[in-house]
Amino acid sequence: MNRGLFITFEGIDGCGKTTQIELLREFLDSKGIANTVIREPGGTEVGEKIRQLLLDKKNSDMTSLTELLLFEAARAQIVEEKIKPALDDGICVICDRFYDSSLAYQGVARGMGTDIVKMLNNVAVAGVDPDITFFLDISVEESIARRKSRGDESDRIESAGDSFIEKVRQGYLYAALYDSNRIRTIDATGSVDSISSQIISIISERL
Ligand SMILES: Nc1ncnc2c1ncn2[C@@H]1O[C@H](COP(=O)(O)OP(=O)(O)OP(=O)(O)O)[C@@H](O)[C@H]1O
Ligand SMILES: [Mg+2]
Repeated sequence: MNRGLFITFEGIDGCGKTTQIELLREFLDSKGIANTVIREPGGTEVGEKIRQLLLDKKNSDMTSLTELLLFEAARAQIVEEKIKPALDDGICVICDRFYDSSLAYQGVARGMGTDIVKMLNNVAVAGVDPDITFFLDISVEESIARRKSRGDESDRIESAGDSFIEKVRQGYLYAALYDSNRIRTIDATGSVDSISSQIISIISERL
């Protein structure tokens, strides 16, 4: 049996990850390709508890290193418990955020540096790296407009402000630059359907 394809979606809040994942899932289902969608840092019992710690506004004294280690802890759990077994069974895994989020948020935006984050990413995933990553790129202005129209209440991380979100975007652009084989940058300001067509055509080549 072939190993399943491991696909991740990245980008700042409101860039369209969840929308595009749903469309990709429908496409895979229509082709009879077994798949599962996973959201970081949750998706396991342990991971969901870590996620609550990360998003709780009461934890305003959480240090950047604690935040990074908590994300990596949740990642290690989800890789071992869910992602690796699914891929080994030939199931295509789609992850809503994965280790490039740590690089962009903690490494670049929080200023921890990309070296430490790459190292911890590698420890957490133990060789289970994504085959392909879609970085859905929109401007910070577009992100804010979309989230407003969705009526979101911001959580602890999202309430960090516009300049923080711009740094996150720069972090993703950096990641896409150093790992251009794996990370495909998609201009995500276009229509939902045109973005979905681009993603499906790239995935079709890999199936
Ligand atoms: N290409 C698009 N053009 C315009 N609006 C879009 C597009 N894609 C998604 N949207 C809308 O933008 C909002 C955010 O989309 P979505 O929830 O898919 O983003 P997300 O990346 O999953 O966000 P988050 O990081 O907050 O989970 C939704 O209201 C969605 O309908
Ligand atoms: Mg989403």
